[in-house]
Amino acid sequence: MKRFYKNKKILITGHTGFVGSWLTLWLSNSGAEVIGFSLNPPSKPYLYRILNLEDKITNIRGDIRNRNKVESIIKEYRPEIVMHLAAQPILLKSYEEPINTYLTNVIGTLNLLEANRKNDNLKAILNVTSDKVYENVKQRKGYVEENKLGGYDPYSSSKSCSEIVTNAYKNSFYNEIGVATARAGNIIGGGDWGENRLVPGLVESSINKKRIFIRHPKSIRPWTHIFDILNGYLTLTNAAYNNPEKYSDSWNFSTKYRKSVRDVINEFSKYFKINYKIKADVRHEEDILLLNSVKARRLLGWKSKVGFEEAVRLTAEWYNNFYNNRKDIYEYSVGQLAKFEKGLNG
Ligand SMILES: NC(=O)c1ccc[n+]([C@@H]2O[C@H](COP(=O)([O-])OP(=O)(O)OC[C@H]3O[C@@H](n4cnc5c(N)ncnc54)[C@H](O)[C@@H]3O)[C@@H](O)[C@H]2O)c1
Repeated sequence: MKRFYKNKKILITGHTGFVGSWLTLWLSNSGAEVIGFSLNPPSKPYLYRILNLEDKITNIRGDIRNRNKVESIIKEYRPEIVMHLAAQPILLKSYEEPINTYLTNVIGTLNLLEANRKNDNLKAILNVTSDKVYENVKQRKGYVEENKLGGYDPYSSSKSCSEIVTNAYKNSFYNEIGVATARAGNIIGGGDWGENRLVPGLVESSINKKRIFIRHPKSIRPWTHIFDILNGYLTLTNAAYNNPEKYSDSWNFSTKYRKSVRDVINEFSKYFKINYKIKADVRHEEDILLLNSVKARRLLGWKSKVGFEEAVRLTAEWYNNFYNNRKDIYEYSVGQLAKFEKGLNG
């Protein structure tokens, strides 16, 4: 994989976020020429700054909702690969800011797809959507890619819309280009400080010695470690680049285990002292959401390498290291990634 990405010119939107920062680290360390396009980092502290990624890439601050800005960046940099992560990604925030959620997640995607029609360097686009794109019918075996798209709330439906827009552009304008969408959810790993997310909430409450309120302890989610997810994104983008006809499609990436919010809290409590209280919330949340990744396993040869206990351990150790030994955090992060890559190579 490193060989493939070396010297490739890659635009990452949303590179200042949790997932985007790890992706930027991975790709810049693989010798790719990364151009990042995002708003300012969404949280404080933020991984992007902690890892000093600004020094390693071309960094552009801008708004994906601004069509002229997106067009000018594509025209100037003419990336070979586009990995689209920029989004308003917080479900609860989408109830407070539905219009902004749609503008960012749908019109932002549209702006990027439209601008790239004129990019004759382009070979592949990956649109990162979500596990929440499926109409939730409480399918206990997990959703497969052919299941109906839906979306109860503005965030989920905006990601489904983003899938539909991508599919229309793929069919209408991008016949010889790899255009794929990746559906994953509940990504855990070090360096996430996103609002209303379980792991950042647990870490913050432990560090600040404050009680955390848990809304839906029994909810089952497809928790997957960030390295497994990024490995999926990178494997898929590589495949779509080399064989657009076969791989321009939608793909689920998820672990197979069934774990609830309470399971995550219990596992995390081995590393952090957690003081939590259950507090009911009237806002809708599905009680079960799982993905089936058989297609990615069979056709891409992707599989999750990080088990549940291991995913929580890697995550907790990252935060422990950050709060106790800040100076080494870049080397520590690179080291965690290298161990994962080594594991991949046996
Ligand atoms: N973290 C998860 O568990 C998870 C699960 C499913 C899907 N995803 C998807 O992965 C992607 C990355 O998520 P994340 O967890 O890193 O989120 P994040 O909030 O940490 O990062 C979001 C990124 O998008 C950028 N952004 C937001 N609005 C923008 C705008 N108008 N213009 C330009 N940039 C903008 C932010 O600056 C940031 O770089 C998102 O598309 C999200 O929906 C994440």
